[in-house]
Amino acid sequence: MLDGKILTMAFESSCDETSAAFVLEGREVLSNIISSQIDIHKEFGGVVPEIASRHHLSNINWVTEKARKAASEKYGRTIAWDDVDIVGVTKGPGLVGALLIGIATAKAFAAVLGRPLVGVHHIHGHISANYIEHKDLKPPFTALVVSGGHTSLVRADDYDSFTVIGETRDDAAGEAYDKVARVLGLGYPGGPLIDETAKKGDPGAVEFKRVFLEKGSYDFSFSGIKTGVLNYVNSEKQAGRWDYSQISDVAAGFQQAVLDVIVTKAIAAVKENSGTMGRKLVVAGGVAANSRLREMLTSECEKEDIRLYIPSPVLCTDNAAMIGCAAYYRYKAGKTDGLSMDAYASIPI
Ligand code: KG4
Ligand code: ZN
Repeated sequence: MLDGKILTMAFESSCDETSAAFVLEGREVLSNIISSQIDIHKEFGGVVPEIASRHHLSNINWVTEKARKAASEKYGRTIAWDDVDIVGVTKGPGLVGALLIGIATAKAFAAVLGRPLVGVHHIHGHISANYIEHKDLKPPFTALVVSGGHTSLVRADDYDSFTVIGETRDDAAGEAYDKVARVLGLGYPGGPLIDETAKKGDPGAVEFKRVFLEKGSYDFSFSGIKTGVLNYVNSEKQAGRWDYSQISDVAAGFQQAVLDVIVTKAIAAVKENSGTMGRKLVVAGGVAANSRLREMLTSECEKEDIRLYIPSPVLCTDNAAMIGCAAYYRYKAGKTDGLSMDAYASIPI
Protein backbone atom coordinates (compact mmCIF):
# COMPACT_ATOMS: atom_id res chain seq x y z
CA MET A 1 0.00 0.00 0.00
CA LEU A 2 1.15 3.54 -0.69
CA ASP A 3 -0.68 5.97 1.59
CA GLY A 4 -3.72 3.68 1.65
CA LYS A 5 -3.71 3.16 -2.14
CA ILE A 6 -3.34 -0.21 -3.86
CA LEU A 7 -0.02 -0.59 -5.71
CA THR A 8 0.14 -3.02 -8.64
CA MET A 9 3.41 -4.19 -10.14
CA ALA A 10 2.87 -5.61 -13.62
CA PHE A 11 4.77 -7.43 -16.38
CA GLU A 12 4.21 -7.79 -20.12
CA SER A 13 6.33 -10.09 -22.30
CA SER A 14 3.90 -11.61 -24.80
CA CYS A 15 5.79 -10.67 -27.97
CA ASP A 16 8.83 -8.46 -28.56
CA GLU A 17 8.52 -5.88 -25.77
CA THR A 18 9.81 -6.53 -22.26
CA SER A 19 7.92 -4.22 -19.93
CA ALA A 20 7.41 -3.64 -16.20
CA ALA A 21 5.17 -1.02 -14.59
CA PHE A 22 4.00 0.30 -11.23
CA VAL A 23 0.39 1.48 -11.16
CA LEU A 24 -1.46 3.08 -8.26
CA GLU A 25 -5.20 2.45 -7.73
CA GLY A 26 -5.42 0.96 -11.23
CA ARG A 27 -5.20 4.21 -13.18
CA GLU A 28 -2.24 6.26 -12.00
CA VAL A 29 0.95 5.14 -13.75
CA LEU A 30 4.03 5.68 -11.59
CA SER A 31 6.33 4.04 -14.14
CA ASN A 32 6.07 2.10 -17.39
CA ILE A 33 9.43 0.87 -18.68
CA ILE A 34 9.40 -0.73 -22.14
CA SER A 35 12.43 -2.41 -23.70
CA SER A 36 11.73 -3.06 -27.37
CA GLN A 37 13.44 -5.80 -29.36
CA ILE A 38 12.41 -4.35 -32.74
CA ASP A 39 15.98 -3.69 -33.84
CA ILE A 40 16.98 -7.28 -33.04
CA HIS A 41 14.12 -8.88 -35.01
CA LYS A 42 14.30 -6.41 -37.90
CA GLU A 43 16.98 -8.35 -39.76
CA PHE A 44 14.75 -11.47 -39.74
CA GLY A 45 11.71 -9.56 -41.06
CA GLY A 46 9.57 -10.54 -38.06
CA VAL A 47 9.64 -11.74 -34.46
CA VAL A 48 11.69 -14.92 -33.95
CA PRO A 49 10.08 -16.58 -30.89
CA GLU A 50 13.22 -18.26 -29.50
CA ILE A 51 15.26 -15.05 -29.78
CA ALA A 52 12.43 -13.07 -28.17
CA SER A 53 12.40 -15.39 -25.11
CA ARG A 54 16.16 -15.12 -24.66
CA HIS A 55 16.03 -11.33 -24.74
CA HIS A 56 13.08 -11.19 -22.32
CA LEU A 57 15.15 -13.31 -19.96
CA SER A 58 18.20 -11.06 -20.13
CA ASN A 59 16.12 -7.86 -19.87
CA ILE A 60 13.42 -8.57 -17.32
CA ASN A 61 15.51 -7.95 -14.18
CA TRP A 62 16.94 -4.56 -15.15
CA VAL A 63 13.60 -3.46 -16.64
CA THR A 64 11.87 -4.31 -13.34
CA GLU A 65 14.46 -2.54 -11.20
CA LYS A 66 14.35 0.48 -13.50
CA ALA A 67 10.56 0.55 -13.18
CA ARG A 68 10.81 0.51 -9.37
CA LYS A 69 13.35 3.35 -9.39
CA ALA A 70 11.32 5.43 -11.86
CA ALA A 71 8.17 4.89 -9.76
CA SER A 72 10.06 5.96 -6.62
CA GLU A 73 11.21 9.16 -8.34
CA LYS A 74 7.73 9.96 -9.57
CA TYR A 75 6.15 9.26 -6.16
CA GLY A 76 8.80 11.24 -4.31
CA ARG A 77 9.97 8.50 -1.99
CA THR A 78 11.58 5.08 -2.29
CA ILE A 79 9.09 2.38 -3.20
CA ALA A 80 10.08 -0.92 -1.61
CA TRP A 81 9.15 -4.32 -3.04
CA ASP A 82 7.08 -4.79 0.08
CA ASP A 83 4.86 -1.83 -0.87
CA VAL A 84 3.49 -3.90 -3.77
CA ASP A 85 -0.06 -5.23 -3.15
CA ILE A 86 -0.83 -7.08 -6.39
CA VAL A 87 1.40 -8.72 -9.00
CA GLY A 88 -0.15 -8.64 -12.49
CA VAL A 89 1.14 -10.34 -15.62
CA THR A 90 0.02 -11.15 -19.17
CA LYS A 91 -0.98 -14.83 -19.24
CA GLY A 92 -1.80 -14.89 -23.00
CA PRO A 93 -2.41 -14.85 -25.86
CA GLY A 94 1.14 -14.58 -27.12
CA LEU A 95 4.34 -16.51 -27.75
CA VAL A 96 4.45 -19.10 -24.99
CA GLY A 97 8.22 -18.98 -24.48
CA ALA A 98 8.06 -15.18 -24.26
CA LEU A 99 5.05 -15.14 -21.91
CA LEU A 100 6.77 -17.59 -19.57
CA ILE A 101 9.52 -15.09 -18.73
CA GLY A 102 7.04 -12.49 -17.45
CA ILE A 103 4.98 -15.17 -15.73
CA ALA A 104 7.98 -16.75 -13.95
CA THR A 105 9.08 -13.30 -12.75
CA ALA A 106 5.59 -12.41 -11.53
CA LYS A 107 5.23 -15.74 -9.75
CA ALA A 108 8.58 -15.28 -8.02
CA PHE A 109 7.54 -11.85 -6.68
CA ALA A 110 4.07 -13.08 -5.70
CA ALA A 111 5.57 -16.06 -3.82
CA VAL A 112 8.34 -14.12 -2.06
CA LEU A 113 6.16 -11.13 -1.13
CA GLY A 114 3.09 -13.26 -0.33
CA ARG A 115 0.90 -11.15 -2.64
CA PRO A 116 -1.89 -12.22 -5.03
CA LEU A 117 -0.93 -13.10 -8.61
CA VAL A 118 -3.33 -11.85 -11.27
CA GLY A 119 -3.05 -13.27 -14.80
CA VAL A 120 -4.36 -10.86 -17.41
CA HIS A 121 -5.67 -11.46 -20.94
CA HIS A 122 -3.45 -9.35 -23.21
CA ILE A 123 -6.46 -7.80 -24.95
CA HIS A 124 -8.17 -6.87 -21.67
CA GLY A 125 -4.90 -5.01 -21.04
CA HIS A 126 -5.07 -3.16 -24.37
CA ILE A 127 -8.66 -2.08 -23.68
CA SER A 128 -7.70 -0.99 -20.14
CA ALA A 129 -5.00 1.36 -21.51
CA ASN A 130 -7.92 3.72 -22.08
CA TYR A 131 -8.74 3.91 -18.36
CA ILE A 132 -5.25 5.24 -17.72
CA GLU A 133 -5.61 8.26 -19.95
CA HIS A 134 -9.35 8.87 -19.83
CA LYS A 135 -10.14 9.26 -16.16
CA ASP A 136 -13.89 9.66 -16.83
CA LEU A 137 -14.20 6.41 -18.81
CA LYS A 138 -16.16 3.57 -17.27
CA PRO A 139 -17.96 0.52 -18.68
CA PRO A 140 -20.25 -0.29 -20.42
CA PHE A 141 -18.93 0.68 -23.86
CA THR A 142 -18.20 -0.75 -27.31
CA ALA A 143 -14.52 -1.42 -28.01
CA LEU A 144 -12.61 -1.83 -31.26
CA VAL A 145 -9.49 -3.97 -30.79
CA VAL A 146 -6.94 -3.74 -33.62
CA SER A 147 -3.57 -5.34 -32.94
CA GLY A 148 -1.05 -7.69 -34.49
CA GLY A 149 -3.01 -10.74 -33.32
CA HIS A 150 -6.60 -9.46 -33.01
CA THR A 151 -9.22 -7.48 -34.86
CA SER A 152 -12.41 -7.58 -32.83
CA LEU A 153 -15.46 -5.59 -31.88
CA VAL A 154 -16.24 -6.16 -28.24
CA ARG A 155 -18.92 -5.13 -25.77
CA ALA A 156 -17.23 -4.23 -22.48
CA ASP A 157 -20.07 -4.97 -20.08
CA ASP A 158 -17.92 -4.32 -17.01
CA TYR A 159 -14.22 -3.82 -16.16
CA ASP A 160 -13.60 -7.55 -16.36
CA SER A 161 -16.49 -8.82 -18.46
CA PHE A 162 -16.50 -8.78 -22.27
CA THR A 163 -18.66 -10.09 -25.13
CA VAL A 164 -17.18 -10.42 -28.61
CA ILE A 165 -19.63 -9.26 -31.29
CA GLY A 166 -17.29 -9.65 -34.26
CA GLU A 167 -13.76 -10.73 -35.04
CA THR A 168 -11.45 -11.50 -37.91
CA ARG A 169 -11.98 -14.81 -39.64
CA ASP A 170 -8.36 -14.92 -40.83
CA ASP A 171 -5.61 -12.28 -40.53
CA ALA A 172 -5.65 -9.52 -37.94
CA ALA A 173 -5.37 -5.92 -39.17
CA GLY A 174 -1.79 -5.52 -37.86
CA GLU A 175 -0.84 -8.81 -39.49
CA ALA A 176 -2.17 -7.50 -42.83
CA TYR A 177 -0.12 -4.31 -42.41
CA ASP A 178 3.00 -6.35 -41.63
CA LYS A 179 2.50 -8.74 -44.58
CA VAL A 180 1.80 -5.97 -47.09
CA ALA A 181 4.85 -4.03 -45.86
CA ARG A 182 6.91 -7.12 -46.63
CA VAL A 183 5.39 -7.40 -50.13
CA LEU A 184 6.29 -3.72 -50.72
CA GLY A 185 9.80 -4.25 -49.38
CA LEU A 186 9.31 -1.71 -46.58
CA GLY A 187 10.58 -3.96 -43.80
CA TYR A 188 9.49 -4.63 -40.21
CA PRO A 189 7.44 -3.64 -38.27
CA GLY A 190 5.11 -2.97 -41.17
CA GLY A 191 2.37 -0.94 -39.46
CA PRO A 192 4.34 2.21 -38.65
CA LEU A 193 6.23 2.01 -41.98
CA ILE A 194 3.01 1.84 -44.02
CA ASP A 195 1.54 4.62 -41.85
CA GLU A 196 4.45 6.91 -42.84
CA THR A 197 4.73 5.78 -46.49
CA ALA A 198 0.98 6.16 -47.10
CA LYS A 199 1.13 9.82 -46.10
CA LYS A 200 3.07 10.47 -49.33
CA GLY A 201 0.63 8.50 -51.52
CA ASP A 202 -2.84 8.96 -53.04
CA PRO A 203 -5.36 6.57 -51.38
CA GLY A 204 -7.52 6.72 -54.52
CA ALA A 205 -4.77 5.88 -57.03
CA VAL A 206 -5.08 2.10 -56.62
CA GLU A 207 -8.37 0.58 -55.43
CA PHE A 208 -8.29 -2.60 -53.36
CA LYS A 209 -11.39 -4.63 -52.55
CA ARG A 210 -13.22 -3.80 -49.31
CA VAL A 211 -14.42 -7.05 -47.72
CA PHE A 212 -17.58 -6.44 -45.67
CA LEU A 213 -18.78 -10.10 -45.49
CA GLU A 214 -22.51 -10.79 -44.92
CA LYS A 215 -24.86 -7.91 -44.27
CA GLY A 216 -25.07 -7.17 -40.55
CA SER A 217 -21.92 -9.15 -39.69
CA TYR A 218 -19.30 -7.53 -37.47
CA ASP A 219 -16.65 -10.04 -38.53
CA PHE A 220 -13.64 -9.07 -40.63
CA SER A 221 -11.47 -10.72 -43.29
CA PHE A 222 -8.11 -9.30 -44.32
CA SER A 223 -6.31 -12.30 -45.81
CA GLY A 224 -7.41 -11.45 -49.38
CA ILE A 225 -5.96 -7.98 -49.42
CA LYS A 226 -2.38 -9.19 -49.12
CA THR A 227 -2.92 -11.31 -52.25
CA GLY A 228 -4.58 -8.32 -53.90
CA VAL A 229 -1.51 -6.17 -53.28
CA LEU A 230 0.86 -8.96 -54.36
CA ASN A 231 -1.10 -9.53 -57.61
CA TYR A 232 -1.16 -5.81 -58.35
CA VAL A 233 2.60 -5.42 -57.83
CA ASN A 234 3.35 -8.54 -59.92
CA SER A 235 1.12 -7.45 -62.80
CA GLU A 236 2.68 -3.98 -62.81
CA LYS A 237 6.13 -5.60 -62.84
CA GLN A 238 5.17 -7.92 -65.72
CA ALA A 239 3.83 -4.98 -67.71
CA GLY A 240 7.12 -3.17 -67.08
CA ARG A 241 5.30 -0.35 -65.29
CA TRP A 242 6.40 -0.93 -61.69
CA ASP A 243 8.70 1.61 -60.20
CA TYR A 244 9.41 2.53 -56.61
CA SER A 245 7.47 5.76 -56.79
CA GLN A 246 4.28 3.64 -56.82
CA ILE A 247 4.94 2.20 -53.35
CA SER A 248 3.37 5.11 -51.50
CA ASP A 249 0.18 4.97 -53.63
CA VAL A 250 -0.15 1.20 -53.08
CA ALA A 251 0.45 1.63 -49.34
CA ALA A 252 -2.16 4.40 -49.19
CA GLY A 253 -4.68 2.38 -51.24
CA PHE A 254 -4.20 -0.73 -49.08
CA GLN A 255 -4.53 1.27 -45.87
CA GLN A 256 -7.67 3.05 -47.03
CA ALA A 257 -9.35 -0.25 -48.00
CA VAL A 258 -8.61 -1.83 -44.59
CA LEU A 259 -9.57 1.25 -42.60
CA ASP A 260 -12.81 1.90 -44.52
CA VAL A 261 -14.05 -1.52 -43.40
CA ILE A 262 -12.84 -1.18 -39.80
CA VAL A 263 -14.29 2.31 -39.30
CA THR A 264 -17.63 1.49 -40.96
CA LYS A 265 -18.14 -1.63 -38.82
CA ALA A 266 -17.01 0.04 -35.59
CA ILE A 267 -19.42 2.96 -36.04
CA ALA A 268 -22.28 0.58 -36.95
CA ALA A 269 -21.57 -1.52 -33.83
CA VAL A 270 -21.64 1.52 -31.54
CA LYS A 271 -24.92 2.70 -33.06
CA GLU A 272 -26.56 -0.72 -32.79
CA ASN A 273 -25.45 -1.20 -29.17
CA SER A 274 -25.92 2.39 -28.01
CA GLY A 275 -29.07 1.55 -26.01
CA THR A 276 -27.08 -0.54 -23.52
CA MET A 277 -23.48 0.59 -24.13
CA GLY A 278 -23.93 4.33 -24.75
CA ARG A 279 -22.56 6.28 -27.72
CA LYS A 280 -18.95 5.50 -26.80
CA LEU A 281 -16.19 3.95 -28.91
CA VAL A 282 -13.03 2.77 -27.15
CA VAL A 283 -10.11 1.85 -29.42
CA ALA A 284 -7.24 -0.43 -28.40
CA GLY A 285 -4.18 -2.27 -29.76
CA GLY A 286 -1.07 -1.45 -31.79
CA VAL A 287 -2.94 -0.44 -34.96
CA ALA A 288 -4.78 2.22 -32.89
CA ALA A 289 -1.47 4.13 -33.12
CA ASN A 290 -2.12 4.56 -36.88
CA SER A 291 -2.46 8.22 -37.79
CA ARG A 292 -4.99 7.72 -40.62
CA LEU A 293 -7.21 5.49 -38.44
CA ARG A 294 -7.15 8.13 -35.70
CA GLU A 295 -8.12 10.85 -38.21
CA MET A 296 -10.94 8.80 -39.73
CA LEU A 297 -12.38 7.77 -36.37
CA THR A 298 -12.19 11.32 -35.06
CA SER A 299 -14.16 12.70 -37.98
CA GLU A 300 -16.72 9.86 -38.17
CA CYS A 301 -17.38 9.91 -34.41
CA GLU A 302 -17.85 13.67 -34.52
CA LYS A 303 -20.38 13.29 -37.35
CA GLU A 304 -22.26 10.54 -35.51
CA ASP A 305 -22.14 12.20 -32.09
CA ILE A 306 -20.08 9.32 -30.63
CA ARG A 307 -17.54 9.95 -27.85
CA LEU A 308 -14.20 8.54 -29.00
CA TYR A 309 -11.52 7.20 -26.65
CA ILE A 310 -8.03 6.26 -27.97
CA PRO A 311 -4.87 6.02 -25.88
CA SER A 312 -1.80 8.02 -26.93
CA PRO A 313 0.40 5.92 -29.28
CA VAL A 314 2.82 4.70 -26.57
CA LEU A 315 -0.08 3.12 -24.67
CA CYS A 316 -1.55 1.60 -27.87
CA THR A 317 1.38 -0.78 -28.38
CA ASP A 318 2.47 -3.39 -25.83
CA ASN A 319 3.29 -2.10 -22.34
CA ALA A 320 2.97 -3.27 -18.75
CA ALA A 321 0.99 -0.26 -17.44
CA MET A 322 -2.11 -1.44 -19.30
CA ILE A 323 -1.64 -4.91 -17.76
CA GLY A 324 -1.34 -3.32 -14.30
CA CYS A 325 -4.61 -1.46 -14.82
CA ALA A 326 -6.44 -4.61 -15.99
CA ALA A 327 -4.93 -6.65 -13.12
CA TYR A 328 -6.23 -4.12 -10.58
CA TYR A 329 -9.81 -4.38 -11.87
CA ARG A 330 -9.57 -8.17 -12.11
CA TYR A 331 -8.38 -8.28 -8.50
CA LYS A 332 -11.26 -5.98 -7.50
CA ALA A 333 -13.63 -8.48 -9.19
CA GLY A 334 -12.22 -11.20 -6.91
CA LYS A 335 -10.28 -12.99 -9.65
CA THR A 336 -6.75 -14.08 -8.77
CA ASP A 337 -4.57 -16.97 -9.93
CA GLY A 338 -2.51 -19.62 -8.19
CA LEU A 339 1.20 -20.16 -8.66
CA SER A 340 0.42 -23.01 -11.05
CA MET A 341 -1.01 -20.55 -13.63
CA ASP A 342 0.01 -21.39 -17.20
CA ALA A 343 0.98 -19.33 -20.25
CA TYR A 344 -1.52 -19.52 -23.11
CA ALA A 345 -0.78 -19.17 -26.83
CA SER A 346 -4.46 -18.41 -27.41
CA ILE A 347 -7.42 -17.76 -25.13
CA PRO A 348 -10.81 -16.27 -25.99
CA ILE A 349 -11.41 -12.61 -25.03
O1 KG4 B 1 -0.84 -4.44 -29.91
P1 KG4 B 1 0.48 -4.69 -30.50
O2 KG4 B 1 1.65 -3.85 -30.06
O3 KG4 B 1 0.90 -6.19 -30.31
C1 KG4 B 1 -0.07 -7.21 -30.38
O4 KG4 B 1 -0.77 -7.42 -29.38
O5 KG4 B 1 -0.19 -7.77 -31.49
O6 KG4 B 1 0.29 -4.55 -32.06
C2 KG4 B 1 1.33 -4.75 -32.95
C3 KG4 B 1 0.78 -4.47 -34.34
C4 KG4 B 1 1.80 -4.78 -35.42
O7 KG4 B 1 1.17 -5.54 -36.42
C5 KG4 B 1 2.19 -3.40 -35.92
O8 KG4 B 1 2.57 -3.40 -37.29
C6 KG4 B 1 0.91 -2.62 -35.70
O9 KG4 B 1 0.42 -3.09 -34.47
N1 KG4 B 1 1.14 -1.18 -35.62
C7 KG4 B 1 0.63 -0.30 -36.50
C8 KG4 B 1 1.14 0.97 -36.14
N2 KG4 B 1 1.92 0.82 -35.03
C9 KG4 B 1 1.90 -0.51 -34.73
N3 KG4 B 1 -0.18 -0.49 -37.55
C10 KG4 B 1 -0.51 0.59 -38.29
N4 KG4 B 1 -0.06 1.83 -38.01
C11 KG4 B 1 0.76 2.07 -36.97
N5 KG4 B 1 1.19 3.31 -36.71
ZN1 ZN C 1 -0.56 -6.21 -27.96
